[in-house]
Amino acid sequence: MEYGPAPESNKESVAFLDAHKRKFSLFINGTWVKPSSGEYFESINPATKEKLADIAEANEKDVDDAVKAAKKGLKAWAEIGGHGRARYLYAIARQIQKHSRNFAVLESMDNGKPIRESRDIDIPLVARHFYHHAGWAQLMDTEMKDYKEIGVIGQIIPWNFPMLMLAWKIAPALAMGNTVVLKPAEFTSLTALLFADICKQVGLPDGVVNIITGHGSTGASLVNHPDVSKIAFTGSTEVGKIIRRATAGTGKKISLELGGKSPFIVFEDADLDSVVEGIVDAIWFNQGQVCCAGSRLLVQESVAEKLYKKIRARMETLRVGNSLDKSIDIGAIVDKVQLKTIEELVQQGRNEGNICWQPSWTCPAEGYFYPPTLFTNVSPSSSIAQEEIFGPVLVAMSFRSHSEAVKLANNTRYGLASSIWTENINLALDIAPQIKAGTVWINCSNVFDAASGFGGYRESGYGREGGKEGLYEYLKPKIDGQLSDKPLKIDTKTIDKKQAALVPNIDRTPKLYIGGKQARPDGGNSYDIKDSFGNHISEVPKGNRKDIRNAVEAAHAGTSWAGMTGHARAQVLFYIAENLATRAGEFADRISEMTNQSKKDANKEVEASIQRIYYYAAFADKYDGHVHHTTVKNVTLAMPERVGVMAVICPDESPLLGFISTVIPAIAMGNSVIVVPSETAPLSATDFYQILETSDVPASTINIVTGNKEELTNELAKHDDVDGIWYFGTAQGSKDVETLSTDNLKRTWVNYGKYRNWLDAEQGEGAEFLRHATEIKNIWIPYGA
Ligand code: NAI
Ligand code: MG
Repeated sequence: MEYGPAPESNKESVAFLDAHKRKFSLFINGTWVKPSSGEYFESINPATKEKLADIAEANEKDVDDAVKAAKKGLKAWAEIGGHGRARYLYAIARQIQKHSRNFAVLESMDNGKPIRESRDIDIPLVARHFYHHAGWAQLMDTEMKDYKEIGVIGQIIPWNFPMLMLAWKIAPALAMGNTVVLKPAEFTSLTALLFADICKQVGLPDGVVNIITGHGSTGASLVNHPDVSKIAFTGSTEVGKIIRRATAGTGKKISLELGGKSPFIVFEDADLDSVVEGIVDAIWFNQGQVCCAGSRLLVQESVAEKLYKKIRARMETLRVGNSLDKSIDIGAIVDKVQLKTIEELVQQGRNEGNICWQPSWTCPAEGYFYPPTLFTNVSPSSSIAQEEIFGPVLVAMSFRSHSEAVKLANNTRYGLASSIWTENINLALDIAPQIKAGTVWINCSNVFDAASGFGGYRESGYGREGGKEGLYEYLKPKIDGQLSDKPLKIDTKTIDKKQAALVPNIDRTPKLYIGGKQARPDGGNSYDIKDSFGNHISEVPKGNRKDIRNAVEAAHAGTSWAGMTGHARAQVLFYIAENLATRAGEFADRISEMTNQSKKDANKEVEASIQRIYYYAAFADKYDGHVHHTTVKNVTLAMPERVGVMAVICPDESPLLGFISTVIPAIAMGNSVIVVPSETAPLSATDFYQILETSDVPASTINIVTGNKEELTNELAKHDDVDGIWYFGTAQGSKDVETLSTDNLKRTWVNYGKYRNWLDAEQGEGAEFLRHATEIKNIWIPYGA
């Protein structure tokens, strides 16, 4: 029997478009403002190619006006407090629910997605996001008491989930006391403009939310505006990298949620009928235009052919058509540009010799449609296995062993999501930690909730949206305001310059420390270390690019540290502290020798270092994750995982304490590190490897390369196998780190030339360090289902 048409009424949405005379202005400072350029562009319905409305193109001046409005609104919005903001967010959530039908229809018309999805998934999740964050606003004073709002936030979103991405961006930003300027994607601005109406209806103070429409150049103006304190972006990896480079060194915080090529892993004991429905959700939801789409099907060889057969049968029954038809499964591709991209990539896949299968029926001719497509026998290196297609195209490969599945899954530059299908809980939970991705869905796919964080590993970007972990993207530590433009002044008054010259040096020839061994520098060069009066103390090796490469390679080899329990790592750290305590006098002498501080002050630094090691040893088994209360029949485990191989560029001041305060939190979380110690006073670090040699830290966990700070930093920032980098140095050095780390999108933490007082525990230690040493993986496990 054939399906008859089942169109959803679009009356209300048409009325909304007509009320604006199908010509939309910008929403700035609570009012509709015409674009100063006088320019507009069209938004179409991709299922019919019908023009829906003209949308204003905001230029630099409009962006500036919007940022000014947001800046003006900031103080009052922060000052009404968490409860005041909670009431507004709650009112927004209620209003969205009341207008949910209009939002869903308008979204489907503008984007082409099936009404079933916008009605049952997108818009309910939007309301849920505002409710959830109304709660976080209420709790901010107690739950986030060491943090404050950042300021004006620029938010740039894509076209695949226009309203949902708006909610993911605006709800947490407002909850934490920031004001926003949001730019929707050029293909899909309409629901954001309807949202502006909602902001007016609830009486949101002027300037708190500003919506500026336009193309990439409008987004770029927002990114480059000096009064924007943070950019939150979702979109292509390419633009994400442009934003990273553009903001480098400015102190603007950024969060990037970028592309993916997420693995969908099917083991031979999986329930294959559930798997097929999971695949429909994974790759045919929203026409496959989903950043976390399960676009790479990895299936165990023994069941591969059987599964492909079932998938093909299911594909044959999928219905493609007008987005407002309630009984279609797949709607239209957002625009002809995207359709062309899909067609080209599929053609490339065919040319590469992969087997392509499409159902026997044809798509309607009037809109931008593309049929569900399955590639089998795909070679892991072919372009369709590596490139994000962002369309309804599934690419299948088979594997034999569990380890091969993991290897294939991680054979990508991305790391956004993954799903694992097996009836064996042991297997699922054995594989979950091995997948490098921010989300792991077990026996489910593409499920989302405001209570769970979402975001990437690797080139899928950084930062999380949703959950408690997502709030930090819109907050800064209160102590940031206390950091100084100058290093702490050290007192050398008590030391006589001539006396200092006579003190015999602690004579040891320092080396590099790589892979648990002392190593001579590759270039055979060394440089002079002088005390603060200019007296010669020692020579230390001048490491070069080759030494950095050796150290990175060593750090990758040393994975046993990562595999240890927090408890075991804590014990090793306590033991290091103990060893340092027994040699406290010697370490204090060394500090005095390099800095000419009094012995008393040097002793204080050693004592503070011992305490700091204790602090992170204590945290090694206590920096827990969360179990999120998501709304589906799941528990969602938010697990802090190590970043991986990290570079730590130590501050020049506080030679021992600066080293300890940066290296120890990183390793406490299981990272392996390449450390560049203080350039001017590196001897505390080179003495420290003797302590490491007598401790139980596995070789390769800590690698130390001395030399020219900026040169070594740049090598590390560029290095593709370094996953994260912390830098404590100059403003220019900070900028270089952020710029050079763009290619593989390393996690960076830099000081922009600001100094901490390392002796002050408030500034020198804290959970903030551990947060930067970890990323959160959310694992969705069926529970109570
Ligand atoms: P895009 O990254 O160009 O667009 C996303 C947003 O960024 C839009 O609002 C756009 O106007 C804005 N933008 C573009 N250039 C900018 C710039 N230089 N500075 C600031 N903002 C800028 O993505 P596009 O062109 O819509 O899609 C291209 C491909 O990107 C897709 O085929 C897909 O592979 C990927 N993509 C991934 C998304 C995801 O959710 N991860 C979402 C959308 C696209
Ligand atoms: Mg459109």
